[in-house]
Amino acid sequence: MCGIIGYIGKDQALPVLINGLRRMEYRGYDSAGVAVINDGTTAVTKRSGKIANLATALDTRPLTGHTGIGHTRWATHGAPTELNAHPHQAGHVTIVHNGIIENYVALKATLTAAGATFASDTDTEVLARLIESETKTHKSLEAAVLAALLQVEGTFGLVVLDDRHPDTVVAARRGSPLLLGLTPEATYIASDATAIIGYTDRVVYLDDDEIAVCRPGSYAVIDFEAKAKEHEEVEIKLELAAIEKSGYDHFLLKEIMEQPRTIADTLRGRLDLENGTSHLGGLNLPPDYYQTISRFLTVACGTAYYSGLLGKLFIERMTGLPVDVEVASEFRYRNPVVVTNTLGMVVSQSGETADTLASLREMKRRGISTLGLVNVVGSSVAREVDGGVYLHAGPEISVASTKAYTSQVLAQILVGLQIGRARSLSITEGKAIVQALQDLPAQVQSVLDQRDKIKAIAKKLAHLNSAMYLGRDTLFPVALEGALKLKECAYVHAEAYPAGELKHGPIALVDDNLLVVFLHPKTALYDKSQSSLEQIRARGGQLMIVGTEGDQSLTDFTDNVIYIPEANPYTLPLLANIPLQLFAYYVACERGTDVDQPRNLAKSVTVE
Ligand code: AGP
Repeated sequence: MCGIIGYIGKDQALPVLINGLRRMEYRGYDSAGVAVINDGTTAVTKRSGKIANLATALDTRPLTGHTGIGHTRWATHGAPTELNAHPHQAGHVTIVHNGIIENYVALKATLTAAGATFASDTDTEVLARLIESETKTHKSLEAAVLAALLQVEGTFGLVVLDDRHPDTVVAARRGSPLLLGLTPEATYIASDATAIIGYTDRVVYLDDDEIAVCRPGSYAVIDFEAKAKEHEEVEIKLELAAIEKSGYDHFLLKEIMEQPRTIADTLRGRLDLENGTSHLGGLNLPPDYYQTISRFLTVACGTAYYSGLLGKLFIERMTGLPVDVEVASEFRYRNPVVVTNTLGMVVSQSGETADTLASLREMKRRGISTLGLVNVVGSSVAREVDGGVYLHAGPEISVASTKAYTSQVLAQILVGLQIGRARSLSITEGKAIVQALQDLPAQVQSVLDQRDKIKAIAKKLAHLNSAMYLGRDTLFPVALEGALKLKECAYVHAEAYPAGELKHGPIALVDDNLLVVFLHPKTALYDKSQSSLEQIRARGGQLMIVGTEGDQSLTDFTDNVIYIPEANPYTLPLLANIPLQLFAYYVACERGTDVDQPRNLAKSVTVE
C-alpha cells in the first residue's frame, strides 16, 4: 500500500527519495511523486504508473535541495492519475499522506465555503489545504499541523513541508506506521524501514497521535496535547541483501527458495528436543496461566488467516483446547463470543494490516491476553500485543506471501507445543514434533530441488483458466493457500475444497478445462481421498497431484505428479505447500503477470 519517505539533511534529498520509493515498490502502488524545497519554493514532480516514469521525468528536470518528501500511492479516493498522486500542495504547504481522512467531505465543504478550490479528488489535498489554513493562525508548522489534525477523523501517516520553514519537516501518525531514521547529519522519515536501510540502523517508531518535528540530525516528538514525548532509539537489524533479488528473477522465487533458511531462523533457539517442547521467551504469560486457558482465538487476514486455519488443527491436537479462527475484517464488526480465559492470537506478516490491528484492539478492549505472531519487528501489532513470537523470516518483499506463511504456521506450532506440553501433550509426541521441525529445512530443500520439474508441469497447465485445489484435514487449509497463490500471482480463478466435498457440488465443474490440484500424500485419510481422485479422472479433469515419494500408483492418474518426502503430520502440510508456491510462480511467469507486484494488490493493507 502507500509508501512515505522524507529526508532533511546535508545531502541532496532527491536520490534518497527515489531510492526509498524504489525500496517500497513491493508494497503495491499506482502512482508516485516527490517534492523538494529549494530557495524558498517547493517543486513537485509526480507521475502515474511506475516509479520508472517518475525517475525518467526527474532525469530531464532534476529537483535540487536538501529537504524533501516522496510517496507511492495506492488509489483510494480518486483514480490513479498524476493529478491525484502525492505530494499535494496548498499554497506554501506540501504533504504526503498514507491512510484515509474519513470526514474529508465535511472539511472540504467548510474550506470551499471559505474560498478554497481543489484540483484533485483526494482526501489528502483537503488535508493539505486545512493545514495551510491553520498556518495563518499558528506560528510554527507543528502547531498548525496539530490544529489541523485535531479536526480530522480517520487515519494518517503524514509528512509536511512548508516553503517558509526549509529547515523543518513535520511528521504525524495515527493508525498508519511512521518511523524516523537518525544520523548525526540527517533525519529520515519512512513508513517502512526498508526505505532507509543502508543509511542508518538507528530508528524511532512513532506512536499513534504523535507529531515529530524533524531537523537535520535531530528530532523532537510531541503528543496531541503538545506535550513533549521521550522516545527510545532502537537498532534495526536489516541488511541490504535481504531486500535485493540476489540473482533471482523475482523476489517471489527468492523468497520461496530461501525457506530452508527462514524455517531454521524461525525455529532457532526455540526447540528443546530433550523435553519435547519449545521455549518462547516473549509470550509473557505466567506458566500457571497455561492451565487456565479455555480457548484460543486467532484473528488474521488472507494468507495469515489460512495459516491460522492450519494452526488451529495443530493447536487443538497439542493442547486439547478449542481454537476459533476469524477473518479480521469480520471479527472487528460483529459481536463475537469471547469467553473468559480466551488467549487471543494475532497473525500478521506486516503487523500493520488495518483489519487485524482493529481486531487486536477489540480483543484487548474485551480484556483478553493477546499474542502477536508477527514478522516485521517494531510493527504496530508487535508493539500493541501483550506478548508474542517474532517470525524471523526476514523482509518479505513479494506481495504474495510465501516464506512468512510457512513461518506463521511454525510459530503456531511452537505456541501449541509450549502450551500443550504444559497441559496434556506427551513427551513422546512432543519429541516427535521437535524432531520433525528440526528435519524440516532439509526436507523443504529436497522439494525445492524439484523446481525444474514443477516448472515443466506449470508450462503444460498454464493455459487453463480455472482451478480447483482439493485436500483433506490439514491439507485443506493448504489447498486454500495454494489456490490463493495462483489467484494472486497468475490471475487464474482458483478455489479450494475439502476433497470430501467434491461430490456435494463442485464436481459439476470438472471437465477437461478444469485444473484440479489434488493434495494426496500418504496420510490417515489417503484411502478416503482415492475415490475423489477416481471421480476427477473419470470426468477428464486436468490433474496435478502432490504425493508421497515412492507412491508410483499416482502416475496411473497423471504424469503431473510432484513428490514430497514422508513426514510427521505436523510438517507434512508445510512440505505439501512448497510445490503449490512454485507452481503458482511458474504459471505466473508463463502467463506474463507482474509476479512480485500483482495488479490491484498491496503488500500491507493499511486501510479498510
Ligand atoms: C498474501 O499472499 C496476501 N498478499 C495477503 O492475503 C496477506 O496475507 C494479508 O493481506 C495479510 O497480511 P499480513 O500478514 O501482513 O497481515
